[in-house]
Amino acid sequence: MDQSEADIIAGSLEAVVARVGDPAGQIFERLFAEIPQARERFARDVGGSIRGEMLAMVFDCLMDPGGPYQANIVRTERVNHDGFGTPAEEFDRFFWIVRDTCQELAGPDWTPEVARAWTAGIERIVGASR
Ligand code: HEM
Repeated sequence: MDQSEADIIAGSLEAVVARVGDPAGQIFERLFAEIPQARERFARDVGGSIRGEMLAMVFDCLMDPGGPYQANIVRTERVNHDGFGTPAEEFDRFFWIVRDTCQELAGPDWTPEVARAWTAGIERIVGASR
């Protein structure tokens, strides 16, 4: 991945955190609003550590220079998720749900440059991991 694109994404996340703190709660609320059947799959995630791990992986994939490592772990997770009841199209949708939530929370900090960086980063990781 182009490092400046990763820097732009990282900067936009910092802006979100500065405005509203940890966006995890809102990201998962949006997930459960868009994909209601996903909520019960987190029943055993009482403390939120699985949700935290998922989100950390999405952010890592978008902010680290993309290479075979990220594509391979996302490919593996997509297969794992299909095995425990989350089909591939729902899995891929999560990246866009994270994007949409951050866009909403960033307000005016969500510039066209930021929007382009997120779209390009997500398309790259989703495409490379198929
Ligand atoms: C709508 C999309 C998604 C749903 C509904 C979902 C759901 C889940 C659930 C229910 C678990 C817990 C599994 C268990 O009981 O052990 C889990 C774990 C996990 N998810 Fe997701 N997931 C989604 C997308 C993603 C994406 C896009 C990533 C990363 C790119 C990801 C990364 C992880 C990781 C790292 C774990 C914990 C380790 C593991 O079980 O492999 N998930 N996910």
